[in-house]
Amino acid sequence: MASNPYSAVQKKLQLAQALPYTEHWSAAPDFLELLIDHCLEHKPARILECSSGLSTLVLARCCQINQCGQVVSLENGAEFAEDTRRNLRSFSLADYASVIHAPLVRQQPDDTQLDWDWYSLDSLPEDAVDLLVIDGPPGYIQYHSRYPALPLLHQQLSRDCTVFLDDAGREEEKEIVALWLQRFPTLRHRFVGTERGCSILQFRPG
Ligand SMILES: C[S@@+](CC[C@H](N)C(=O)[O-])C[C@H]1O[C@@H](n2cnc3c(N)ncnc32)[C@H](O)[C@@H]1O
Repeated sequence: MASNPYSAVQKKLQLAQALPYTEHWSAAPDFLELLIDHCLEHKPARILECSSGLSTLVLARCCQINQCGQVVSLENGAEFAEDTRRNLRSFSLADYASVIHAPLVRQQPDDTQLDWDWYSLDSLPEDAVDLLVIDGPPGYIQYHSRYPALPLLHQQLSRDCTVFLDDAGREEEKEIVALWLQRFPTLRHRFVGTERGCSILQFRPG
C-alpha cells in the first residue's frame, strides 16, 4: 500500500483521522509543517488565507490546539468552499474556521491602472490579520495571479503579521515577491527551499 505523504503532518497535529488531500492541488506537506510550526509558536489570533482546502483544516487544527485563533479562508470556487466546510465539520473544526465564497472579480490593486481577477473582499471581516497564507488564486487564471494579495490587504495586516506565500520557487512567484519588495520598502523576505518553495515576509520599520 502506498504511504500517505501527509502522515507526518497528521502526527504533528495529533489527529487520529487521515487528512484528505488532492495530489498537486493541496499544499505540500513541508509547507504545511512550516505553517504548523509558526502557528504553534506564535499563536496568531486572526489568520487569513487565500484559497481553501487542506491548509484550512491544518490552520484550524492549530487554533484548536492553541485554544485561540480563528481562520478566515477566501475561496473563489463555491464547490471547493463547500468541500472545505464539509471537511472542517468532519474533523470537528468548524468552530475554528470559516470559508467565505469570494468569487474572483476584476480589481485594480495599485496605481498602475492594471487589473486582475482577484477575490471579492465584500464579505471579509475588517479585523487585523496576524498571519496571511497565500496559496491562490491558481497560476493558470492569469499572469502574476497572486500579486494583488499584498497591495489589497497590506492595510489590514497587523504590525507583526507574517505572510507565507506557497509555490514561491516558481519564476512568476519570484517576480511577484520582487514586485512586493519594490513596492513596500519595509518588507523583509526569507525564502525556504521547500518542495515548491515558500516565501516568508514581514513588514519591519526601516
Ligand atoms: C493550490 S489550490 C489551494 C490549496 C489549498 N490551500 C490546500 O492546501 O488545499 C488553489 C485553488 O485551486 C482550486 N482547486 C483546488 N483543487 C482543484 C482541482 N482539483 N482542480 C482545479 N482547481 C482546484 C481551488 O479554487 C483552490 O482554492
